[in-house]
Amino acid sequence: MKVLITGKLPAAAEERLRQSGYEIDRHDEDAPLTPEALRERAKDADGMITLLADKIDEALLEAAPRLKVVANYAVGYNNIDVKAATARGVTITNTPDVLTAATADLAAALALACARRVLEGDALMRAGKFTGWKPDMLLGAELEDKTVGVVGAGRIGSAFARRMAGFGMRVAYFNRSRNERLERELGAERLELAELMRRADLVSLHVPLSEETRGLVSAEMIAALKPTAIVVNTARGEVIDEKALIDALKNRRIFAAGFDVYENEPNLNPDLFELTNVVLLPHLGSATKETRDVMADLAARNVAAVLNGETPPTPVEE
Ligand code: GLV
Ligand code: GLV
Repeated sequence: MKVLITGKLPAAAEERLRQSGYEIDRHDEDAPLTPEALRERAKDADGMITLLADKIDEALLEAAPRLKVVANYAVGYNNIDVKAATARGVTITNTPDVLTAATADLAAALALACARRVLEGDALMRAGKFTGWKPDMLLGAELEDKTVGVVGAGRIGSAFARRMAGFGMRVAYFNRSRNERLERELGAERLELAELMRRADLVSLHVPLSEETRGLVSAEMIAALKPTAIVVNTARGEVIDEKALIDALKNRRIFAAGFDVYENEPNLNPDLFELTNVVLLPHLGSATKETRDVMADLAARNVAAVLNGETPPTPVEE
């Protein structure tokens, strides 16, 4: 049986699949396969390990009649038409849990970098402009006793909330359902989104992208933010009105924003480069050595389980 792997994953997982007798076809270049190339390579594949850049839609499924499983190398799976896959008996899996700490850490890194103007300080040093300690140099925002608003209190949102509670922040959250554990553990308060936007000093996005969450943080929501607010997005660019956010940053209607994801990834709105009150990262949420190794292992186990007729460890439910 053939497994198509669409990118350069850590080698150990691939080696295990090979040792289990699967034929591996791996796309070895950094640029993702075009939709045509993906269909061509998938046409005799029994299983696939895919990246977020690969679109798994009706046309791909149609072109891959042998396909039984698509293991997405990510927790998010907005690149996959799960309904169409399920209708064809193709199992979809993702990599939840194993990247929760890494992603929550990165969101915290963005929050702190924004609050304490870490990149502006670094730029000043590199420009040779440090002439000594100054009482008014690069004053940032204190986090202690402020409110963090967590939009999406799932695994990652909860892990982020715990980290920020460690910095002395009060926790508010917006979530479809109540998160009693977070309320019990951190005294977190569940709010409507508009109320959270009005009250939070730091807003961090942790919802998956779906039709329900596309554009969730609208221009109107952004307008409700305090002038001292910080926004962090490690979820998906399309969850927030990026243009409205950039306008708010440009006009200093909010303090700063940390981006790990973008509406039109990997193409960035050029206005972002003009702003000094942003931190821009290249989608690094899960990018630790440890996490990527475990993600690869989990993806490989998902593929092997389905091809063996077993229940995979982390299937996605439509
Ligand atoms: C990364 O964005 C992921 O969904 O794992
Ligand atoms: C992602 O796994 C989440 O639930 O936040």
